[in-house]
Amino acid sequence: MLYVVGIGLGDEKDITVKGLEAVKSCDFVYLEGYTSKLCSFDLGRMEKLYGKKIEVVDRKFVEDSKEIIEKAKEKDVALLIVGSVLGATTHMQLINSAKENKIKVKVIDNSGVLTAVGITGLSLYKFGRVTTIPFDNENVKSPYDVVLDNKKLGLHTLVLLDIQDDKMMSAREGLDYFLRMGLDKEEKVIVCGGLGGDTEIKYGNIKDVSINKFPQCVIIIGNLHFSEEEFLKNYA
Ligand SMILES: C[S@@+](CC[C@H](N)C(=O)[O-])C[C@H]1O[C@@H](n2cnc3c(N)ncnc32)[C@H](O)[C@@H]1O
Repeated sequence: MLYVVGIGLGDEKDITVKGLEAVKSCDFVYLEGYTSKLCSFDLGRMEKLYGKKIEVVDRKFVEDSKEIIEKAKEKDVALLIVGSVLGATTHMQLINSAKENKIKVKVIDNSGVLTAVGITGLSLYKFGRVTTIPFDNENVKSPYDVVLDNKKLGLHTLVLLDIQDDKMMSAREGLDYFLRMGLDKEEKVIVCGGLGGDTEIKYGNIKDVSINKFPQCVIIIGNLHFSEEEFLKNYA
């Protein structure tokens, strides 16, 4: 059996009771460590709470999937994912590959960044396409195009920021990318850090707003309903 378990955003305690029961029943436990990071992570603390040895694995290990698949043919294996299991597209591949190998798969989900941004007071129903800014973005236009397309429809844009190894892009770097691409210097934006943990949110001008808590993301605002505008005053 392969359990794919979302562990939420804050720390090891955000796992669900169902998720924890599954992990405790497993012979092997892996933590996917490359698509996202918990706000507060300590492997020893996690192993103690989950009662298991946990191996942190990289992209190659998960996408290659051989070891996970071979082990899950004989034993119970859990793959832990920060946030929601399918908040990053890459895990569908592993689930499909397990199914092709006649391995039973159980997904135990959790909340992820795509819904955690609801704390800003923006209506989740008024977001358009989500985009990600890569570190190497000198010739990358698509996040900017996504923002313009969403804006045409009056929709908000959630902008995720690249992670490479232990380096996480800051909201400031993301906003500087948009300024370089030509977004209006007077644009008002929202920056969020550490959602689901010790959260920091600011609503301010694209030129100078910044935060300290990680991981971070950015929201480029579409048309605001007056109730959204009212709520945003909390973060000004
Ligand atoms: C691939 S996405 C997250 C997928 C994850 N499975 C989920 O459902 O949250 C990773 C990006 O989301 C953003 N992010 C993740 N966790 C966050 C948090 N707690 N607060 C703010 N942004 C976060 C960062 O920009 C990060 O680089």
